[in-house]
Amino acid sequence: MPDSKKAIEVSGLSFQYPDTDEKVLKNINFSVDHGEILGIIGPTGVGKSTLAMCINGLVPQVISGELEGKVYVKGMDVHQGNVAKMSEHVGFVFQEPENQLSQMTIEEEVAFGMGNLGVPRKEMEPRIKDALQQVGLSGFEKRSPLALSGGQQQRLAIAAVLAMRPTILIMDEPTSMLDPKGKNEVYSVLRNLKDYGMTGIIIDHEVERIAEYCDRVLVLSEGEIQMLGTSSEVFTEIEKLHELTLHAPQVTEFLYQYNREFDQELKLSTKLEESIKILESAYKGV
Ligand SMILES: Nc1ncnc2c1ncn2[C@@H]1O[C@H](COP(=O)(O)OP(=O)(O)O)[C@@H](O)[C@H]1O
Ligand SMILES: [Mg+2]
Repeated sequence: MPDSKKAIEVSGLSFQYPDTDEKVLKNINFSVDHGEILGIIGPTGVGKSTLAMCINGLVPQVISGELEGKVYVKGMDVHQGNVAKMSEHVGFVFQEPENQLSQMTIEEEVAFGMGNLGVPRKEMEPRIKDALQQVGLSGFEKRSPLALSGGQQQRLAIAAVLAMRPTILIMDEPTSMLDPKGKNEVYSVLRNLKDYGMTGIIIDHEVERIAEYCDRVLVLSEGEIQMLGTSSEVFTEIEKLHELTLHAPQVTEFLYQYNREFDQELKLSTKLEESIKILESAYKGV
């Protein structure tokens, strides 16, 4: 039975695309609490996007294949419902911002998804205002989406999803096409959403930002969960990460390397300030 206290529950999930020899997901089990932000990292091609699409039902309903196991969102069996219905609960943001944008103006863009959900016209206006405010695009209503920077376009894509009022947001490499400024913009929106109590899953290669913004981190490789824990639990297992061709935030890698070079056993941290204190007290002890 699903645990209705969980926002997302994945149990015994396996998936295989048609005409392929191997399962891309192999017996995946994890859950996400309400209000929690889960980061997913892993090398390219290991099944991260497939896993994300199992959570809103795109896989296997739109992208077909053989699925075993269960996915529950707020206690509802995702694969019993339809994808359009799921979009009321789970918003999805993809990698390329421009591919998600199709309208002439920013307000029409935000209205578009709501229109598909059948939100009445007069309710759209306050929702557009709220959503644009949440992503810092108020005052841009009449502009063309194409006139925005990459970071702004991605924030607009997030606004269009937020206007549908989902309680769960899944972002699949939302910053990989963006410059550092755009990446910061998207992550600051994520922090805001967390303050509003939104549940989130973010897939990204930016370990620095994943460590900073996510409550827990799931490491996927070859279709299996290799690690799952708090940011500091996962990112201080440096050797395990290296075996999986992944790495920790630079400051954690630095402390790890320092320990090896100087035969020390300093505690590893993912946070810059804490790391400085750790080094400082080590020196004071000399
Ligand atoms: N529609 C599809 N049909 C067949 N194989 C696919 C399809 N989509 C993805 N794959 C394969 O499934 C594996 C996992 O892909 P994906 O979930 O996109 O990984 P990731 O997001 O971690 O890069 C890859 O080997 C990819 O080539
Ligand atoms: Mg992917």
